[in-house]
Amino acid sequence: MACYRYSWSRPRLRGAWRALSTGATTPGWLDFVFGRRCGGAAGAAGAAGASDADPVAAGLGLVLHHNFITEQEEAALLAHADRLLLGTDYSQAHYDQVIERYREASVTTFDDPDAAAAVRRLRLTGWAATAGAPRRGKTMYPHVQLIDLPPEGRIHPHRDNMKLFGEFTAGLNLLSPAVMRFVPLKAPAAAGVGAGVIDVLLKPRTLYVMHGALRWQYTHEVLDAAGTAEALGKSTAAGPQPPGLERGRRVSVIARDTGAAGFFGGLW
Ligand code: OGA
Ligand code: MN
Repeated sequence: MACYRYSWSRPRLRGAWRALSTGATTPGWLDFVFGRRCGGAAGAAGAAGASDADPVAAGLGLVLHHNFITEQEEAALLAHADRLLLGTDYSQAHYDQVIERYREASVTTFDDPDAAAAVRRLRLTGWAATAGAPRRGKTMYPHVQLIDLPPEGRIHPHRDNMKLFGEFTAGLNLLSPAVMRFVPLKAPAAAGVGAGVIDVLLKPRTLYVMHGALRWQYTHEVLDAAGTAEALGKSTAAGPQPPGLERGRRVSVIARDTGAAGFFGGLW
């Protein structure tokens, strides 16, 4: 199967890691998705930008917002995560686990005002992105999930629980760059959304919302350090991993709405 990369991936990626290494901020919508597209006509659908305004990204159900929270808010969220998680062990790899090497916590309220403000915006952004969707649960899921992955930790391909959870999953990517990979359940043409495997680079403090096709018709996964290096190497013509984008310890903050079951309220 013919696979190719978006022709503009490299210059945009270069710009992105320059921004990372200098600490420069790039306000506004994250300016790129990179990835491979496989197949004929589907692959020729054109470059995908990554903002709500971009028809390809919007059609897929992807919202990306770089620098969505401030460094102060990130620090507050990490402090909360550390209070709950430091000192607990990362789970050992297990063959049937969706997540390999991780520790996690569920949180309903954040006392720190910066952390609370960041989570409130996270939730509202996910909710707003799915305005008008057939929201079966009608409410936000009360828990926010904190997931802590060491460099060798990864989240295997899966879809979020179809009954328990609703129309969106909104995530904040903290501490380390990470690559999120989306793979269509069906062949691209059958899926009708015109894209094959999509790799999305999340930078520290990037928000993503997956909804629509990406929520229902794609699996998602978060690559470990080795997978990240491989994915990023492929996304540049030169091959080696761009500096500053190594996957280190990564913490995510995940918000969702409720699904058909409501909150622990029905069949699931
Ligand atoms: C999950 C998940 C993604 C992330 O917890 O189901 O896919 O960004 N998390 O941590
Ligand atoms: Mn998930």
